Amino acid sequence: MTIETDNDFQQLKQIGNIVATVLKEMMQQTEPGMSTLDLDLIGKKLLEKYDAVSAPKISYGFPGYTCISINEEAAHGIPGNRIIQPGDIVNIDVSAEKNGYFADTGGSFVVPPSNHLKDKLIHSTRLALNEACHVARANQPLNGIGKAIQRVAKQKRFKIIKNLCSHGVGRSLHEDPKEIPGYFEPNDRRILRQGQVITIEPFLATRSRFVTEADDGWTLKGDHNNLSAQFEHTMVITKKKSILLTVA
Ligand code: CO
Ligand code: CO
Repeated sequence: MTIETDNDFQQLKQIGNIVATVLKEMMQQTEPGMSTLDLDLIGKKLLEKYDAVSAPKISYGFPGYTCISINEEAAHGIPGNRIIQPGDIVNIDVSAEKNGYFADTGGSFVVPPSNHLKDKLIHSTRLALNEACHVARANQPLNGIGKAIQRVAKQKRFKIIKNLCSHGVGRSLHEDPKEIPGYFEPNDRRILRQGQVITIEPFLATRSRFVTEADDGWTLKGDHNNLSAQFEHTMVITKKKSILLTVA
């Protein structure tokens, strides 16, 4: 969506703050030995507390309140009986709706103990998001987002998962501009506009450039030994630095 009124902005800030708060609390409460279902139920309770509803559930019938993806799972992991282990890379993606407005956020972290590669993957993916947020400005090419992510991935020697994209958001979970690539696509001539609400969500990986759907019909997985990380913010595009909405 494109913001037209101050009410649009206030409502988006509210749901942005809610999903960011839920993500932060879920990350803090993650312990080895918990199942991903246990963790999702923490998310469910928090969303209820803030009077928000799970966006993937109402939009697509996703079988969970949040998406929780571990190690070789890159995205859309279904909460279930998988037990979180020491050393796992856990990705939690929280998107929700309130009063007809949607926001989407996500983050990855390592359940201790970590190692150099995992720490570098997490740090590099967060850096890619920050760099991309910097170049995402009104009247600038939309493909600058992928260009910034690709620069960081190359410098840090990680792969980009090419079939996971950033996207417009606001009045629904996924809307125009759809499929914003996480890599530089020179043929993409789209221009970012003042007031546009989008996500940026780089996915960096140790091995895989593509993910495929698992037998459960939801989970997107890389190669068996692949590790990936994602960080995601929802933001408003302006002529200066974008305004982050998903802040706790
Ligand atoms: Co998300
Ligand atoms: Co998203």
